[in-house]
Parts: sequence; C-alpha cells; structure tokens
Amino acid sequence: MGYYSDKLSADRLKGVYEIASPRLEQYLHCEIEFVGSRLDSSSRVLELGCGYGRVIKLLSDSCREITGVDSSVDSMMMAAEYLSGFPNVSLYAMDASKLALRDGCFDVVVCIQNGISAFHVDPVLLLS
Ligand SMILES: C[S@@+](CC[C@H](N)C(=O)[O-])C[C@H]1O[C@@H](n2cnc3c(N)ncnc32)[C@H](O)[C@@H]1O
Repeated sequence: MGYYSDKLSADRLKGVYEIASPRLEQYLHCEIEFVGSRLDSSSRVLELGCGYGRVIKLLSDSCREITGVDSSVDSMMMAAEYLSGFPNVSLYAMDASKLALRDGCFDVVVCIQNGISAFHVDPVLLLS
C-alpha cells in the first residue's frame, strides 16, 4: 500500500481536482488539450496512473482506444463507474512497473499529473 492507495484514491483524489482554483483548472484543462491535440483517431493510448479516469474521459474522443492502469484498486473501481458508457476504454488495476500487457499494443503512453519519481518504483524498470 502506498500514499495514493491509503490517502488519496478514488473520491478523495476526485475531490482534490474539484476544488482546483480557476487558474489551476485552466492549467489542468490545457495539459489535457495539449496531449489530445497530439493524438489521432488511430492512436492506441495507455495512461499510466490514471486514477479515477479524469484524463481518460477527456481523451477518449481523440483516439481509437485508451487503456488506463493504476495501482489503486479503489480508484480503478471508481474509474469503471466513471467511464461506463465509453466503449473504447479498458482499465486494469496494475503497477505501472509490472505491466501484464502485450508488447507493442500502444502507440502513445501518457502520464499526466504524475512523475516518474511519484510512482515509487525503479525508474529504469518503469521506462522499459
Ligand atoms: C495525482 S494522481 C493522477 C491521476 C490521473 N492521471 C489524473 O491526472 O487525474 C496519481 C495516480 O498515480 C497512481 N500510481 C502511483 N503509483 C503507481 C504505480 N506504481 N503504478 C500505477 N499507478 C500508480 C496513483 O494511484 C494515482 O491514482
């Protein structure tokens, strides 16, 4: 268990984004818009550390398929509900450094509102 699973998962994480100031909200919006503008309708996208699906919901229209993984089971359960009705979305409760997904099935990997150090795993393993 880690910080996100224990203290900042699912509805708590959602609450943090919901109280963002207008300036921060603008930044968060621009960040997703920037990524979305670089995708195309054929892109198969993987988001590492997707939380409750905030980013996936906004990017799902800009790509062919989008898969989210997160180590917090609570966040993944909330994401399943938050993203129900989005047919091109797949979700897996999984550590980003131990992906049990086939090689070569994504065109783009995104990691938003996150940092390699925030995953608290071996960064070389994570990147590989
Ligand atoms: C700040 S939240 C960002 C969530 C989402 N990307 C967003 O922008 O709304 C960071 C997320 O990374 C996840 N996370 C942390 N370490 C992880 C790991 N080793 N593998 C997968 N997910 C991880 C946390 O559970 C948390 O949901």
